[in-house]
Amino acid sequence: MDDATMTSPESEFISILGATGSPETPPRVSSSSLPGVLPILGLSDIVIFPGMVAPLLVETTQSTKLIDDVVSGDRLLAVILQRNPEAENPLPHEMYEVGCAARVLKMLKFPDNTVRVLVEGLWRVRVKEYPSSDPYLCGKVELLQDHMEESVELTAMMRNAQTQFQEIIKLSPALSEQVKIAALNTESPGHFADLIAVNLNLDLAERQNLLETVSVKERLTRLLPMLNREHEVLTLSSKIQTEVATSISKTQRDFFLREQMRAIQRELGESDPNANEVRALREKIEQAKLPPDVRHVATQELDRLQQMPPGAAEYGVTRHYLDWILALPWTTETEDKLDLVEAERILNEQHFGLTKVKDRLLEFLAVIKRRKQIKGPILCLVGPPGVGKTSLGRSIADALGRKFARIALGGMRDEAEIRGHRRTYVGALPGRIIQTLRRVESRNPVILLDELDKVGSDFRGDPASALLEVLDPAQNNTFTDHYLDLPFDLSRVLFITTANWLDPIHPALRDRLEVIDLPSYTESEKLQIARRYLVPRQLEEHGLSRQEVKIPDPTLRSLIHSYTREAGVRQLEREIAALTRKATRRIVGNGHVSKPLVVKPESLRDYLGAARFFNETAERIREYGIATGLGWTPVGGEILFIEATRMPGKGGLLMTGSLGDVMKESAQTALSYLRSQAKSLNLDLSDYGNFDIHIHVPAGATPKDGPSAGVTVVAALASLLSRRRVRSDVAMTGEISLRGRVMRVGGIKEKVLAASRFGIKTVLLPEHNSVDWTEVPEEVRKKLKVHFLRHISELFPLALEPK
Ligand SMILES: Nc1ncnc2c1ncn2[C@@H]1O[C@H](COP(=O)(O)OP(=O)(O)OP(=O)(O)O)[C@@H](O)[C@H]1O
Ligand SMILES: [Mg+2]
Repeated sequence: MDDATMTSPESEFISILGATGSPETPPRVSSSSLPGVLPILGLSDIVIFPGMVAPLLVETTQSTKLIDDVVSGDRLLAVILQRNPEAENPLPHEMYEVGCAARVLKMLKFPDNTVRVLVEGLWRVRVKEYPSSDPYLCGKVELLQDHMEESVELTAMMRNAQTQFQEIIKLSPALSEQVKIAALNTESPGHFADLIAVNLNLDLAERQNLLETVSVKERLTRLLPMLNREHEVLTLSSKIQTEVATSISKTQRDFFLREQMRAIQRELGESDPNANEVRALREKIEQAKLPPDVRHVATQELDRLQQMPPGAAEYGVTRHYLDWILALPWTTETEDKLDLVEAERILNEQHFGLTKVKDRLLEFLAVIKRRKQIKGPILCLVGPPGVGKTSLGRSIADALGRKFARIALGGMRDEAEIRGHRRTYVGALPGRIIQTLRRVESRNPVILLDELDKVGSDFRGDPASALLEVLDPAQNNTFTDHYLDLPFDLSRVLFITTANWLDPIHPALRDRLEVIDLPSYTESEKLQIARRYLVPRQLEEHGLSRQEVKIPDPTLRSLIHSYTREAGVRQLEREIAALTRKATRRIVGNGHVSKPLVVKPESLRDYLGAARFFNETAERIREYGIATGLGWTPVGGEILFIEATRMPGKGGLLMTGSLGDVMKESAQTALSYLRSQAKSLNLDLSDYGNFDIHIHVPAGATPKDGPSAGVTVVAALASLLSRRRVRSDVAMTGEISLRGRVMRVGGIKEKVLAASRFGIKTVLLPEHNSVDWTEVPEEVRKKLKVHFLRHISELFPLALEPK
């Protein structure tokens, strides 16, 4: 089979030519000397064009004979592409018709019986018929002349092709200098087109097609888009090349520089920074007071670190982990101050009142002093907002002389916030407990877990279950954070928790808590707290002295009354802050003032605007069918109004205001009781089937539930049906039975405190709650009149105004 390689003399051939030492320029032949019949050599993978010089490998005996004969004769033959590249001795129909008449420039025989020839394409020819095929194919050939009509268009095309081709030569490493020179020196458009066809990256079919095209213009027209495409491909690939090359060289450069730096440091007798870092860490690990198993893990990690190249991502992760291990207070702790007298002094100094709470805390401290360890229930301070739960936590730490830290649990939903993320996560960190310990640098701080009732849970896991482990004295000595993956002993930490109410707390967690209730403050307690703590603190924060601004008691009282309505003192503190802020401005604005600025109750309006609260009940109760009840919420006691009205209908009962089932049933019960007792109660129900009753409890959007509104509903309905108004200074609470008995309810203390906040004068409570009344601060009891109800019938003379 014939084989051939590319056009420009292959290196092997150049050397062969060189070896023969002959810059043999074969004599020029003219087309007129072309014989009519030529031996035909079939080519399997190359198309030879006029003007092209190509080496061919000849393998078959038939072809070898052909070459022998050609070389011994006029050296002319026709080289034609085979339609079937596989055929060893192709038949006439397996050949294309158009090929190239060529001349053998050189022939070399090799010991393996193969022959290499160097041929030069001369002219396009078409084979018209094959007169003989033995010993090889011979064909009658017809010369094909180039068709060319000179035109501006042709010149333009030629120029265009030339520029494009020059560009391609510049970009393509495969094209040699010789091609460039040839391109510059070819003037005939036909030859130029052939030169391009030979040197462009085209497939055989395309090449054969170009060979068959005798019109020069058409040849160029076909070649131009190919040139264009080739140019684009080359530009793009050279761009990619440069980019790859620069990025590789940057990393290589860094690498070499780093290696050089190390080598220089070694030469100078300095050790490299990585080794320095590892050595420093090793020293630290040795000096740190680590428990044996922690030391073991740390050393192991350090050994791993030593093996890593400092640039590796893993290096940073391990380094970070070691930092954490070294920074944690594994064994460091502060010494407890266990002087109970001193502790009591500190608690009193920082908080007013709260006698019971402080007593309980001191008992707790006494136990710690005795047992020298904390193994007992976890304290949980429960109460409405702003009564000092969070700030008491801090005082306990002060009283014990321990470090203090607060962890806000409100809105925490992810278990990982407590327990951390595994080290395999990108940017992993330990959980809040371990972070806090690192911050306080002591393993026995007081940690306040604030707002335990506001822990959430979702698909990321339940923080409450992690808290269970943290708070359980039986297992928290081996608390394992996901990040550290080492047990840390939390048993020396004093955990204190706070909550507004206990209901939302996970039952298992609630079980471990020892609840200390912090009640709402009475007005005089608020006054004391304001006078002794809040005002001095705000003055100090605003850079004022006690001599400069004076806020007398009546002003504070008015502030509590008309500008706040809350269980705790947070709003009060804010109002005092606003007041001092304004006072500061006045003082600074006036320049030097000799007299102290006294804020009088009358001038509060100037400082804070109009009063925000007034006696609402008198305002609300102007008609029949409205009664004031007392309710309990997590933010303290509340008063609520129950409204009843009637309208034409069929004796139905409608209830609105986001009421729960229990509350609705209790309203049904109240109505049933009234209907059954209509006569004795002197109610006019003769037209009961002709009207509907509607009960509404504002605020309509706040959900309400519980049976304790029963008495209030009765009062509202009785008022509606008897057309007697409910007294506006009376508030009530209590559950009722179908027979009209008044039954015990909860939250009396908070409810009564709320009643006094809202300016109520008389409260009506179930008789069974009389014990709870004694729990109410004396100051409030003195201010309020109370009636205990055993039966609902006792309600009417007390609650309804006479007709
Ligand atoms: N008995 C008190 N004596 C002195 N200051 C008090 C007292 N009670 C509360 N305070 C002050 O009132 C402010 C509010 O208290 P704190 O933030 O502790 O409330 P809290 O009970 O934690 O409320 P929440 O439930 O909203 O978190 C604090 O500045 C606190 O010092
Ligand atoms: Mg708080």
